[in-house]
Amino acid sequence: MGISATADRLPPGPRFAALQAARFARGPVAFLESMRRRYGDVFTVPFPFFERLVYLADPESIKQVFKGDPRVFHAGEGNAGPLGPVVGDRSVFVLDEDEHMRERKLLLPPFHGEAVRGYRELMAEIAAREVEHWPVGRPFALRGRTQPLTLEVILRAVFGIDDEEALAGYRALGAKLGEVSNLVVLLPALRRDLGRFSPWGRFLRVRNALDELIYGEIARRRADSDAASRDDVLSLLLQARREDGSPMTDVELRDELVTTVAAGHETTATGLAWLFERLLRHPDVEERLRASLADGDDSYLDAVVKETLRVRPVVVDVVRGLTQDTEIAEWRLPAGTYVVPAIALVHLREDVYEDAHEFRPERFLDGGAGGTYTWIPFGGGVRRCIGAAFAMEEIKVVTRTILEHARLRADRPRSERQRARHVTLVPSRGGRVVLEERLA
Ligand code: HEM
Repeated sequence: MGISATADRLPPGPRFAALQAARFARGPVAFLESMRRRYGDVFTVPFPFFERLVYLADPESIKQVFKGDPRVFHAGEGNAGPLGPVVGDRSVFVLDEDEHMRERKLLLPPFHGEAVRGYRELMAEIAAREVEHWPVGRPFALRGRTQPLTLEVILRAVFGIDDEEALAGYRALGAKLGEVSNLVVLLPALRRDLGRFSPWGRFLRVRNALDELIYGEIARRRADSDAASRDDVLSLLLQARREDGSPMTDVELRDELVTTVAAGHETTATGLAWLFERLLRHPDVEERLRASLADGDDSYLDAVVKETLRVRPVVVDVVRGLTQDTEIAEWRLPAGTYVVPAIALVHLREDVYEDAHEFRPERFLDGGAGGTYTWIPFGGGVRRCIGAAFAMEEIKVVTRTILEHARLRADRPRSERQRARHVTLVPSRGGRVVLEERLA
């Protein structure tokens, strides 16, 4: 089913698309909060290219969307626009309905909680090595350091690469792809090959070089007689079979590998940067965290991670395109409307989280907070983030390792702002810290 387009009556909201886009870019959360104050829990914001984005800030409507029929609520179609050229058209990210579920079922087992705990040691080792390179006494942006770290974790744990030279090749091409994909992701009109120096020409060249590495790796691993004894995600996917007994094709494997990098590396790195941005401005929380870890108790660490992702969600919202007219709250929304569960707004509801703007991990202790539709940093329903357990594990392991090896402080007392970077919210100064002292 495709998304058709005819509008009738939509929930209230402002006019002038370009103005709203500018306000969103300046401060996404403050902008969405002001919309909610003015128009209520369900409001429409016109953006350039997206005339009908209906934001949802109440858990009931969000529940309806997340539990809704995947034939009616399409996520892949919306994702394919910006990300299709990078992740490919067999990626779980851009598929919908039955095709999406078939692909998702293959990916879930290797990213299951039990499976990802097997990567703890690897994550800790990579983090400890990263901290060794941090300068003492000079401010630096933590996000710039957690990015290579999370990339290496994915390349080793997901791709199963352990050769230093191969890692360096992936790193270099990954960084280049990040640079050249910015423009073509934002402006589909540029997707025409006008020679090797045009944005699309440069993008294709880097992407093809990266694909060559990945297809080479897939071929090597298919031929490897030890494949069954390896525990990286690619090895598990090579052995995975659909209900009809068919294996994944090379193109599917390539697209899912690239998807994990695109969806999992900057997001996790940003989550880590936010954790320290908050923690270092709350010395009482840091003290309690250090003490609980010294006692071998992980529950407060878990609460700190959850509270970080609540008060500073990495992804501001998720989008579903309606394939047919649908009733949500008191509105009958026409097919073609995009409904947008607003992660950042649900997390700031005072009726769910008292003093919602405060960083207070205690609220997550003893299962005291964090319902399926009120704590949604990883989205929900059949589109919920496949890497959620992986990301939670990684943030916890890396946080613990950093605390064991370093005493950090924020470079300034003032909090960093939430700045929009594509669909993510990053600390405005990258989470700047000073390493005061090495601890081990
Ligand atoms: C803190 C880190 C992360 C955050 C905040 C995050 C957040 C999200 C969100 C909000 C979605 C969309 C969910 C929806 O539409 O309802 C998503 C989807 C996805 N994420 Fe993550 N993610 C993170 C890390 C990861 C990692 C580490 C991986 C893989 C290694 C990953 C793989 C995926 C995939 C494959 C999807 C698409 C799922 C589907 O469409 O069925 N993510 N993520």
